[in-house]
Amino acid sequence: MTNPFRTLKAGNRMQQVSEVVNSWNEWDPLEEIVVGSADGANFEPTEPGNRPQIRNAPPGTPFPSGPKSAEAVDRANEELAGLVSLLESEGVRVRRPAPHDFSQSVRTPDFEAANQYCAVCPRDVMITIGNEIIEAPMSRRSRYFEFQPYRELVYEYWNADPRVVWTTAPKPSMADKMYRDGFWDWPLAERHERMHSFEFCVTQDEVVFDAADMSRFGRDIVVQESMTTNRAGISWLKRHLEPKGFRVRPVHFPLDFFPSHIDCTFVPLRPGLVLTNPDRPLREGEEKLFLANDWELVDAPEPTTGNDEMPEFCQSSKWLSMNVLSIGPNKVICEQQEKPLQELLYKLDFEVFPVPFRNVFEYGGSLHCATWDVRRVGAGEDYFPNSDYQPLA
Ligand code: ARG
Repeated sequence: MTNPFRTLKAGNRMQQVSEVVNSWNEWDPLEEIVVGSADGANFEPTEPGNRPQIRNAPPGTPFPSGPKSAEAVDRANEELAGLVSLLESEGVRVRRPAPHDFSQSVRTPDFEAANQYCAVCPRDVMITIGNEIIEAPMSRRSRYFEFQPYRELVYEYWNADPRVVWTTAPKPSMADKMYRDGFWDWPLAERHERMHSFEFCVTQDEVVFDAADMSRFGRDIVVQESMTTNRAGISWLKRHLEPKGFRVRPVHFPLDFFPSHIDCTFVPLRPGLVLTNPDRPLREGEEKLFLANDWELVDAPEPTTGNDEMPEFCQSSKWLSMNVLSIGPNKVICEQQEKPLQELLYKLDFEVFPVPFRNVFEYGGSLHCATWDVRRVGAGEDYFPNSDYQPLA
């Protein structure tokens, strides 16, 4: 079996080693992808890692619990099916999660959660890095077992090709002590004061990350420190990925007081081009790596929907507008109503495929979140030859 690290040293390119699982970045031509499903979805419970709120409701209004309504599930599933048809018409093989009863409670020796969430956002849990599938440890109790609906697929890929590597990252305890007490109640002034410390609802003691805090740029894996990914999580990723030739690069967005998942903040579209969020600039200095390697950072236009007009149970921001899915280096799927972004993408020479997706928003995300790409054509390239990377000693 080819060691990608050795290949890289020889020629700056990490070799494709599997015909089944192969995805090194967010933009190469897409061949196989998992699209989430709203079947069996429940409302996310309140827990130390999450305090869901009904949008525009007076403080203290309880967030609903238990299963989502059949109508809401149908509406989301219809839009997910629209995405599936579009992908299939572009020649992509689409796979779906297995049915799962998310109304089941979760109990481990360390915690209990009244119910689970859903399988709409495989992106949050699963990531392909080259020929490897990694299941994230996760940061919330209700999502502890969210890998389960994807296990049949993982076994299928793993059985189909001995070169497929499958890793489950260490599960944190998710005990009370893993969370920072009081985080949700900090007044805004305190958040502002603490914005450069990057301390959120999870402490630094255990390995915590969600897969969606990473963005893949070939040899470089960019990872956001957030409410859902802590420094121990980033260290684990470094120790795991560096020996394979990857460079893991932490990034920070100090103006995002509730950061979770990088794909509404910093979205690479093709080599040399990242779509950036004008409300969430990179920490000063972190842009240098991109600029020194001739990457352009282009701000997304204002979303068409204000934060106050997002669906009432949606916990994400208006920047779901930026959560596009690339199916090739010049082909992007974009939410139907986001005309200003579509205009920008046309100007940047992309072919744009609009699809309606707003009914999916209350399940945790938009087009990128609701998918997990398993195979894209191509190999791992070094897009940052000008850099001084400090590997772990
Ligand atoms: N926290 C992000 C925002 O509001 C939403 C991220 C959704 N991404 C995902 N992979 N579920 O702006």
